[in-house]
Amino acid sequence: MYTEQTIHPLRTRMQQWRQAGERIALVPTMGNLHVGHLALVGQARQLVDRVVVSVFVNPGQFGAGEDYLSYPRSLEQDTDLLTQAEVDLMFVPGVDELYPGGQRGATYVGVPGLSEILCGASRPGHFCGVATVVTKLFNCVQPDIAVFGEKDYQQLLVIRKMTEELCLSVEIVAVPTVREADGLAFSSRNAYLTAEQRKCAPLLYNSLLLCKKRILSGEQNYAVLMSQAQKNLRAAGFDPDYFEIRRADSLTEPTGDGHQLVILAAASLARTRLIDNVRFTP
Ligand code: PAF
Repeated sequence: MYTEQTIHPLRTRMQQWRQAGERIALVPTMGNLHVGHLALVGQARQLVDRVVVSVFVNPGQFGAGEDYLSYPRSLEQDTDLLTQAEVDLMFVPGVDELYPGGQRGATYVGVPGLSEILCGASRPGHFCGVATVVTKLFNCVQPDIAVFGEKDYQQLLVIRKMTEELCLSVEIVAVPTVREADGLAFSSRNAYLTAEQRKCAPLLYNSLLLCKKRILSGEQNYAVLMSQAQKNLRAAGFDPDYFEIRRADSLTEPTGDGHQLVILAAASLARTRLIDNVRFTP
């Protein structure tokens, strides 16, 4: 596996591969890789000739007081995992490489509307930071496809909208959420959970499944379902941020016309913020 830390040699290698007629996938990550990331790599591997994984903890998507400094970093282990997964190139830029003029006053990519609801309402600027860094990574690698997890469902829609509206020629591929045996979605932030919190954490997914079951068995009062779910989460020790039933294509309020739905939840166990979602057709 090649490793590049700067854009120039990365571009040279990408050009060589493209000239040889090879298709390239990018899997953007913030490192501390787990089974969920490896599923993205596996999907990429099946679709193209060359797989590039970026590992960059993006300061632009963390708000003041969030966990940018303490975010788990494990580059040696990530390198081993990506080598075993037969990744062709790992791109590990420093902050100065992607934000050459610093972050303040820099050029940012905004995806209005979709970025301001749900996670965006509690984490102002977060999706602007995501859209900006993903655009930079797309420009550096110029991949044919880019692979993202459905666990970050709102992020996936933000990236799809941005790609479409900026006329970027990258196909966005989504991979279903990978879960532990008890249903908890794999996430780098699970590392923050104490043993006690870890036992409680699968309740987030279970509450999504219960809500889905009640909708499928005919419950139409979504407001009641959402507030009951929040109440149950609170009783179990979570601090819920939101528990929402939305249209899967736009994250707008459901209109009851048979569109696919997604139930999304964000809730904290002490300092650990967990997110999850389930998508289905009612
Ligand atoms: O999902 C993530 O890990 C990050 O938000 C991403 C897409 C790599 C951008 O920093």
